[in-house]
This record gives sequence, C-alpha cells and structure tokens, in this order.
Amino acid sequence: MIQKVRKAVFPAAGLGTRFLPATKAQPKEMLPLVDKPLIQYGVEEAIHSGIQNIIIVTGRGKTAIEDHFDKSFELERELEQRHKTDLLEMVRAISDMIDVAYIRQKEALGLGHAVLRARELVGREPFAAVLSDDVIDAEIPCLRQLLDVYNFYGASVLALMEVPDESISAYGVVDGEPVSHEGSSGKLFRIRNLVEKPKAADAPSRLAIIGRYILTPEIFDSIAAVEPGAGGEIQLTDALKHLLRNRPIYGYRFEGKRYDAGDKLGFLRATVEFALARYDLGSQFRAYLKGLFSNGRLD
Ligand code: UTP
Repeated sequence: MIQKVRKAVFPAAGLGTRFLPATKAQPKEMLPLVDKPLIQYGVEEAIHSGIQNIIIVTGRGKTAIEDHFDKSFELERELEQRHKTDLLEMVRAISDMIDVAYIRQKEALGLGHAVLRARELVGREPFAAVLSDDVIDAEIPCLRQLLDVYNFYGASVLALMEVPDESISAYGVVDGEPVSHEGSSGKLFRIRNLVEKPKAADAPSRLAIIGRYILTPEIFDSIAAVEPGAGGEIQLTDALKHLLRNRPIYGYRFEGKRYDAGDKLGFLRATVEFALARYDLGSQFRAYLKGLFSNGRLD
C-alpha cells in the first residue's frame, strides 16, 4: 500500500545572498509579494494540496517566521478595539491555518543538509519539500499535481520545468525517460540521471528541477551518505542521485507559472503580475503602469 504524504518541509535557512541587504536580518522567505510573505504562499499551496503538518527549517531571522504563523495577541487586541474586523479575521486566519513545527539549521550547509535537519520530525514516512522562493501560480496547486503522481507510483517525484539554454546552469537538471501517464506523454519522466548546475554544453536536457519535491524517507540516508558538492554545500541533487541507485524517481512537468522570487528580477516580475491580478489593486496599478508607458518612462 502507498503511504500517504502528510507532512511538508520548508527549508528556509539559506543566506539569501542575492537579496542582500534585505536578507541581512530576516529570511528571504519573509519578503512580501504585494502584501503576503513568500512562505505564506508556499504554506497555502501545501494546505490546498492536502498537507496536514508543516515543518519549517529556520536559520537567522527565525523569530520573524515563527511570529508570522503564531498568534499575535497585541495586534489582535488593537484591531478588535479599532473595530477592524476584516483585518482581524485575516490575521487570525494565518495562525489558525495549520500546525507548524520548527527546527534550526545552525549553519547554511546546503539544501540537502537543511532537509536532513527535519529527519526526526518527519519520521519514516514520505513527505513533501517546498522551496518557497519558487512561487508557482497554478490552477491545480503544483504540490497537488506531484502528489497525484506519487499516489500512482509510490516513488519520489520532482517538479520539472523546461528552461532556456542560457539559464540552465543555475539549476539541477535531469536526464529522463518519457513515461506516458494518464493519456499524455512528455509530462512524466522516469529519471535516469541528475546533474547540479551543469554548463549548458554538458546539460543532459533542458528539464530543470524546481522547488517542489515528494520524497520517500530513504532520502535521509542518501543525504547523510553524500559528501559536500557544488559550492561546498550538501546538495539535495547529489542525494537524489544517490537515491536513484536503489529507488525509482520520477519528474513531472507541472502546469502553472513559476516565478523565481529569490532573484531580484524574478521577484519584481512576480510582484507586478500578482498586483495586476489583485481584485483590490489591479485596475489602479494597471492604470499606473499605462501612465508610465504613455509618459515615455518605459522607453
Ligand atoms: P538557494 O539556492 O536559493 O540559496 O536555496 P539561498 O542561500 O537561500 O539564496 P542565495 O542563492 O544565496 O541568494 C534554496 C532553498 O534552500 C534553502 C533556502 O532557504 C531556500 O529555500 N536553504 C539553502 C536552506 O534552508 N539551507 C541552506 O543551507 C541552503
């Protein structure tokens, strides 16, 4: 019988060097897209995908994330006294959303190392891993799409996206054999090999791993077994390669639009598109952008 995925691990202990100085005292996962921190988008995606427990791996700025998902008595009292009922409900909904457990990664020794820190809290069961700086706008949540594949094969599943040659060296890249799945081909792949950050000429394909994973618990032994790789960090991609020796791994080209919100340009793109899509801001913001255009500010 295929074991159910109940827990999601959110590694949020990276240094966020691409976003300094904003990330000096707070994790990049707390940067807001319009008005909601990146990590809340990820947590909501997990909840909408049926996840029941959240485990956040924190580093510096731990309190900002913990406080965000915790009850804020002072703020709630203030909002109550000022009769700001809508805001009060919104703030309460965040702490009522789901139970969150925290574990610390004292040093940023890599994504693989961060995931390994969650070993005790996950136990011997399959789990999801979500990198919340990858924000994915999708009709069916990306994690849900991966879980549907997992529930079929009972094996680890990675989110894949085709990326252009010039940016391939920023990703973990897979060599995959297409598998026909639910009547379509070209979406699901059985992974043959994985390479972390290859040069374009050495990349086995254009299929890059994006920050959503379903992992079987054997991944923990694989992470513990691998040596530090690219950048001196314990890489999750290296551990997946290790796992591949004994277990099948699948990759799924998900439906949806992904933004790399850990990168300044990606963050700006996401901000603009999310703001345009907002019912309360979209039309005013659109008018503002059109104004910039007609004033020649965008030439
Ligand atoms: P990134 O590769 O984006 O690295 O991590 P980073 O350090 O956060 O950011 P830059 O590249 O310096 O700007 C991918 C994910 O893995 C987590 C990050 O928090 C992010 O969610 N991570 C990375 C950890 O939790 N611990 C680590 O040691 C490294």
